[in-house]
Amino acid sequence: MVQESTLFTQIDKQRLPAHIAIIMDGNGRWAEEKGEDRLFGHFHGVESVRDIVEGAAELGIQFLTLYAFSTENWDRPEQEVNGLMGLLADTINKEVPILNKNNIRLRMIGDMQMLPEFARNGLNEAMQKTSQNTGLTLIMALSYSSRWELVNAVKNIALDTKSGKINPENINADILQNYLNTSEYPDPELMIRTSGEYRISNFLLYQLAYAELYFTNTRWPEFRKYNLYEAIIDYQSRERRFGKTGKQIKEDNESA
Ligand code: IPE
Ligand code: IPE
Ligand code: MG
Repeated sequence: MVQESTLFTQIDKQRLPAHIAIIMDGNGRWAEEKGEDRLFGHFHGVESVRDIVEGAAELGIQFLTLYAFSTENWDRPEQEVNGLMGLLADTINKEVPILNKNNIRLRMIGDMQMLPEFARNGLNEAMQKTSQNTGLTLIMALSYSSRWELVNAVKNIALDTKSGKINPENINADILQNYLNTSEYPDPELMIRTSGEYRISNFLLYQLAYAELYFTNTRWPEFRKYNLYEAIIDYQSRERRFGKTGKQIKEDNESA
């Protein structure tokens, strides 16, 4: 196996993705394979979050979005949902000093109103306490789903059209962007999903239009900086064409 430090040096620091999004999947199966309760997997998943956040910050990644809980995850057994909410609130409270020490700003996307009050309060406090940080922006997707986000955007655009705030003739991609939860962030260039599932599961459907997708069999509780570096190196080996031909891209690069 290649050493972690070797992988780190292989990353071209001039061509980093500005925004990486991760579907942190496989906690439950990882735990069940060990004969443990699913919550044991979520608990260990927090260690991966810590390691990956630190790794992204060290590299100089500007935005990291972590899909932690989907709209559909509310349909899981009550005991698992409650356990996850407790873990979330606990972790956020504990991590604030570390986020501040590392100059990391915490943000969230999703339906905050759905979260239990203690979790919502903890999150608001953590976001406020880290709001002045200028390094990595860590975006937690909580009670988030893309369809929820898009339906809301459409609803709010319709309301603002009705009240005369926007002219329907002028609606374009920039205006739509303003109505998304992610309005302040660039689209992710790289989307990673762990645990061997090859699907998007209602995550950033619009924003991932031209993202490079990277799938790994590694379960989230075992995903570490090493694996993040592998994903970035793979991303850097790809040619992003945005509908053009390979020849055009090469010419664009040469003239840049
Ligand atoms: C991801 O792991 C965490 C959440 C969705 C909250 P899972 O809990 O989905 O784990 P698997 O996919 O069942 O193994
Ligand atoms: C997606 O994982 C949501 C998160 C990782 C938070 P799921 O485990 O809920 O997705 P499906 O159900 O396998 O598609
Ligand atoms: Mg899953």
